[in-house]
Amino acid sequence: MKVLVATDKPFAPIAISQIREVVETAGHTLALLEKYKTPQELHDAVKDTEALIVRSDIIDAAVVAAAPKLRIVVRAGAGYDNLDLEACTARDIVAMNTPGQNSNAVAELAFGMMLYMARGGFDGKTGTELRGKKLGIHAFGNVGRYMAYIAKGMGMDIYAYDPFVDKKVMTDAGVTAVDTIEELYSMCQYISLHIPANEKTKKSIGKAVLSLMPAEAVLVNTARKEVINEEEIVELMEKRSDFRYLSDIAPDNGALFAEKFEGRYFFTPKKMGAQTQEANINAGVAAARQIVDFFTTGNETYRVNKKK
Ligand code: 3PG
Repeated sequence: MKVLVATDKPFAPIAISQIREVVETAGHTLALLEKYKTPQELHDAVKDTEALIVRSDIIDAAVVAAAPKLRIVVRAGAGYDNLDLEACTARDIVAMNTPGQNSNAVAELAFGMMLYMARGGFDGKTGTELRGKKLGIHAFGNVGRYMAYIAKGMGMDIYAYDPFVDKKVMTDAGVTAVDTIEELYSMCQYISLHIPANEKTKKSIGKAVLSLMPAEAVLVNTARKEVINEEEIVELMEKRSDFRYLSDIAPDNGALFAEKFEGRYFFTPKKMGAQTQEANINAGVAAARQIVDFFTTGNETYRVNKKK
């Protein structure tokens, strides 16, 4: 079988060599398409592939239509909002993700950004510390759990809200579980977002909850920019000069922040939560193993789309 790694944002070379080893040892062939510039390049590359490994690359109905032999697509990462699940199901293609594999990298980036802001962008002036501050973890999945683990070591006071997770999981991690979003936001100076982007969550983080945050509020978004109501956050930051926003990738209205909120925001130039060698290896190799296993035994663990 042919396995194509198609990544606009390439994996580290060390991850590619480990992916290659898994694929070739199992008797399959590996092809690479990196940093492609147009959807057409992707369409051309998928035309004879049975398996596809991607990152945030958009796999929509047109890509699926261009890949007549495709049987499995694995999103090497957690969020699969870039995959058209219905188009995959309609063609009987299995869609998977690799949950947990890049979570530590994302949590470390969230802390990196929080420290950067607490220290005033390392500008030489007096800043603040994270120890003793309240951290609210919005959604306690894999990244949320690493957030708690690191925050504990830093001496933060940790809270979390996740209606889909048993509270015991949170309390066992040394976290106070709260019952409502409002409670979380009104209590915590730092809020870190770990919700997926879907029809329910898109634009769901806006002034209704953010205006509840206490003084010197910092919102950290390493989830998806789509979950933020960008107009409302601008409105709020105009009213509240103490409010700061950190995001892994700039919002669509990012230029406005540069114009209005100097020193009160930080945006990565490219989504880089999972941009570590370790995360690339973990997620890429997991994706390769899942594909090999699917072809060998039919194992569909981590399938995220419905069966036909
Ligand atoms: C994820 O959903 O796993 C992360 O956002 C990482 O995305 P990336 O692989 O595009 O960096």
